[in-house]
Amino acid sequence: MTKINLQHGNCVELLKNIPSGSINQIFADPPYNLSGSNYQTVRSGKMVVCDKGDWDVIDDILEFNETWVKECVRVLADNGTIWISGTLHNHPSIGIILKKLNLWIINDVIWFKRNAAPLLSKNRLAPSTELIWIGSKTKKYYFDYETAKILNGGKQMRNLWEINAQRHLTSHPTEKPESLLERIILLGSKEGDVVLDPFMGSGTTGVVAKRLKRDFIGFEISPEYFEMADKRINKEKKQSKIVYSDKLINKDEQLRLLLEKQAKYNVAKV
Ligand SMILES: C[S@@+](CC[C@H](N)C(=O)[O-])C[C@H]1O[C@@H](n2cnc3c(N)ncnc32)[C@H](O)[C@@H]1O
Repeated sequence: MTKINLQHGNCVELLKNIPSGSINQIFADPPYNLSGSNYQTVRSGKMVVCDKGDWDVIDDILEFNETWVKECVRVLADNGTIWISGTLHNHPSIGIILKKLNLWIINDVIWFKRNAAPLLSKNRLAPSTELIWIGSKTKKYYFDYETAKILNGGKQMRNLWEINAQRHLTSHPTEKPESLLERIILLGSKEGDVVLDPFMGSGTTGVVAKRLKRDFIGFEISPEYFEMADKRINKEKKQSKIVYSDKLINKDEQLRLLLEKQAKYNVAKV
């Protein structure tokens, strides 16, 4: 039976209650620190000041990131991996911290959104990527290379992932696509492992972890988003199908059979 443990509060405090070395995989989608008058975005075809919420405005991003990453590293198993997503607004600091904490940097995954919103201003390139650091405490970490290959149609998977931005399922401003999390969780953990997300937002990681039969621990500081995630993850009880590879699977019967056999999933055919 999958164990789901959701807690409302500041992850820096809540992480202190988690035993050292007890977590197999961490996915963290922290505040990117791109809200405020210096940053603009496109809404309904107009340029507006980027405002994801107060949680996305942090005075000292290096200090904040170091505090929670340190706690995450403490709770991570020796063969576990930590995956941290972000953009150029916070990623330099994450890179510095991973090096400072002597983590083994396994990959930087570039998530390319071909359908990213166009940029109205003409003074820079249109942003269409996010970066995901993958790190571990030792060189003997768990990584499911074979499943990565299967998901990539039988070819070695590279670190450039083309996954379209998707219509949000909730009103959370930075909800991640479930297909992105499905790939991350399939590659970084096995059934029965414990996955932790310190910045749960709308609960995407929890929904996917539960669907893939991983135990899940999630923290969220905002009462509104906590409730959103709690409801969404609870609702997932009624489903048991993975949706990630629908497009690929419909094209590739062998891939469907392999996924079903290797991972014992009920694969949805939509
Ligand atoms: C980038 S969003 C995560 C979005 C999430 N991946 C999803 O798919 O919905 C970051 C979330 O972290 C929360 N947050 C910010 N600071 C936090 C903290 N110190 N502890 C816990 N949650 C925090 C914010 O309220 C926000 O919902």
